[in-house]
Amino acid sequence: MRDIITSAAILGSVLLGATACSSTSGGSASTMEEAGVGDVPGSLVNAADVPIDGVDKDTVHLFDDGDLLFNLQLREPDGLGPLFVRTACGACHKEGSRGPGLVQKMSVVGSDGFTAAADQSKLAFGHTIRLGLAAGAKTPISAPSGDATVKISTRLGPPVLGRGFMEAVADSEILRVEAEQKARTDGIHGHVNRVVYGSEANVDTSFFAYKKGDANLIGRFGVKARVATLDDFVADAYQGDMGITTPMRPVELPNPDGLTDDKKPGIDLEIDHVNRIAFYLRRIAIPRRVGLTDRGVALFAAAKCSACHVPTMKTRADYPIGLMANIDAPIYTDMLLHDMGPELADGMTDGAAGSSDFRTAPLIGLRFAKTYMHDGRVTDLVEAILAHGGEAKVSLDAFRALSSADHDALVAFVQAL
Ligand code: HEC
Ligand code: HEC
Repeated sequence: MRDIITSAAILGSVLLGATACSSTSGGSASTMEEAGVGDVPGSLVNAADVPIDGVDKDTVHLFDDGDLLFNLQLREPDGLGPLFVRTACGACHKEGSRGPGLVQKMSVVGSDGFTAAADQSKLAFGHTIRLGLAAGAKTPISAPSGDATVKISTRLGPPVLGRGFMEAVADSEILRVEAEQKARTDGIHGHVNRVVYGSEANVDTSFFAYKKGDANLIGRFGVKARVATLDDFVADAYQGDMGITTPMRPVELPNPDGLTDDKKPGIDLEIDHVNRIAFYLRRIAIPRRVGLTDRGVALFAAAKCSACHVPTMKTRADYPIGLMANIDAPIYTDMLLHDMGPELADGMTDGAAGSSDFRTAPLIGLRFAKTYMHDGRVTDLVEAILAHGGEAKVSLDAFRALSSADHDALVAFVQAL
């Protein structure tokens, strides 16, 4: 709910300075209401980026603290650079929604224009374009000019709403859905992205005790589900998007000037900082859904949207946030990768994710969305549905075949998610 603030001085002073605590006390009552016909509008109706219902005052304070850090613009004295893309998380996840900031990726592709080539060596500094220069850096990482074999793609910062619920979903639940899809005969067959933990261990092990190199984790975050946990994503984003090192990602990424540090010697931010942002991310509510109709539910299933956008997934009984444990989380994703066809393919691979594979986008807070799909290519919901290809073909055919009344009812339902 905050705007970006521009003060490096605020770091460590105004903020509460509290350690992100591991859990809220709450019971196991569901925080989400599957709003149905006649739902009474509550306080969350028109708000995105607010904490889950039922948390205590201290939690709200810590949530706001994390929100503040999320929107804090970092500068050279904070360790920005040597290269960066933007200077605050919130620049790419404004009010928890998509964009407006974005990341551009590049990949060497084959003659079809989208299959990643085996040899990516001409991209000596990786796949991410980083144009921001700080701390004496002179040379950005940009795309080789006039090279038709290098495909440039765009990723808007996806919404971060409700991601705690996605972290809380039980592994067994994701594997169950994957197995169910395997048995389908209509072409819908998502798969898990198994990933390797890329960060050093977080000293706060109240959520996870993973350490660098732990393999075979279920990827959940990122448009190709390449990261398993939210704290890992915070550290990854600081390092990759902002050139900010943390104890979890202590080393600056390789850059053309060969710089290994910035204006702030050593590790830029303490682990506490990472955990305070993770505290916030884990507790962002799924905006309450109003006006969902039984007819919409039925059409969503009949058009097979629900095969991938699974309406609810069961969370772990031992997820450290009691309010989010052992519930049916209404996340509208299976967190699996699906082949979405050549039109959406971005040339990028990531673990088990190929060029045209994307994690099912969670349908959360869509009424706050201004753009849709990983690259924000459309601004209209119907166009977003029509942009589905690949495995979703059967679903698209069903969508196209709807009567105009059913079409409108389904679109209204999705819009309300
Ligand atoms: C320059 C824009 C940019 C900045 C700055 C940025 N992000 Fe992101 N964020 C993205 C993009 C693009 C993705 C998708 C990345 C991918 O698929 O690998 C993403 C993905 C995420 C996700 C996963 C969301 C999902 O649906 O899986 C989280 C969580 C996240 N970012 C948090 C952060 C945090 C925390 C910060 C600050 C430390 C941050 N981001 C800074 C652009 C940005
Ligand atoms: C085969 C799996 C699959 C099926 C079936 C499917 N989707 Fe999707 N959907 C996806 C994936 C994957 C994405 C993300 C694509 C991207 O970001 O480029 C997505 C994205 C979306 C988005 C954009 C969300 C956003 O945040 O930008 C909407 C809206 C959507 N789907 C609605 C639907 C509807 C409605 C149906 C049924 C008519 C449907 N989908 C069927 C997999 C599926």
